[in-house]
Amino acid sequence: MKLIQMPVWKMTVSTMAGLALSCAAWAQGYPTKAITLVVPFAAGGPTDVVARTLGAAMTKTLGQSVIVENKTGAGGTIAAAYTARANPDGYTFLIHHNGMATAPVLYRKLNYKPLSDFEYVSQVIDVPMTLVGRKDLPAKDFKELMAYAKANSDKINLAHAGLGAVSHLCGVLLRQAMGVSMTTVPYQGTGPAMNALLAGQVDLLCDQTTSTTPHIKAGSIKLYGVTTASRLKTLPDTPTLAEQGLKDFQVVVWHGIYAPKGTPKEAVDKFGAALKTALKDPVVVQRLAELGAIVPSDAKLTPAGLQTWLQQETARYEPVIKAAGQFAD
Ligand code: MLT
Repeated sequence: MKLIQMPVWKMTVSTMAGLALSCAAWAQGYPTKAITLVVPFAAGGPTDVVARTLGAAMTKTLGQSVIVENKTGAGGTIAAAYTARANPDGYTFLIHHNGMATAPVLYRKLNYKPLSDFEYVSQVIDVPMTLVGRKDLPAKDFKELMAYAKANSDKINLAHAGLGAVSHLCGVLLRQAMGVSMTTVPYQGTGPAMNALLAGQVDLLCDQTTSTTPHIKAGSIKLYGVTTASRLKTLPDTPTLAEQGLKDFQVVVWHGIYAPKGTPKEAVDKFGAALKTALKDPVVVQRLAELGAIVPSDAKLTPAGLQTWLQQETARYEPVIKAAGQFAD
């Protein structure tokens, strides 16, 4: 029998051509079913609000539903680990915030690597934070809150969304800057933490404007300050915490979208393009602006924009968290 042997170079070229064709065909058809957007915190909280607002708009562009799945716990690390191990088929994405940068320092036994276990899709939105209190907290402004917290450090408490959550980070920095100790009360997200604040079960919460703005405007919680370098357009009468004596105090939450490592580039690009379109949708633009959120520059709405930012933020937080002596394990 005579074997017809194809030269190796021919096999390589034809295999590559076939692969390129099937990738192109795959990309044209994608997505053919619903896409899961994993949210690391509870429903009703700020990450969930951003994910659902954008997901609804992205559904229109992608022609398939973007379904939000809340995978809560351990300050967002359960959702990130889940996504890192998910099938890299273009149907699972994760939205996460500064917690991607703080987790490797806070959790010494973290079972995923934020800087190498993911494909980076894009940054999403920047959100200022507010320091808010229960409606009947005796302190009427930040000056009175300082005095009240110092006099009641054995009983005042601050809710947060778990070690690694930005509400936790903000609380750590706040207690350091104020020079007071407070009991902290963890929840699965600031959605449930806000419910506890509204019910008067906890005293204070440092949370994003995407969650606090409606309650501030309704007068159902007290507002003590914003965490940005300058005042917010949406809350122009509220001084920054820096203005009120906490020199240089600044915490702004940034968000990114990630996919499991190995997710096809075509899927990453298509999901990223749908995100960009959503961020220009007039309904989305108005809703996010009313909630105090800021759309980042176009350069940040790219895979490289997220990856570089994550690297910088990881390096920035490491000494801060180490100095605070905060570890989750
Ligand atoms: C949430 O969505 O509940 C918050 O982003 C949690 C946090 O404070 O990090």
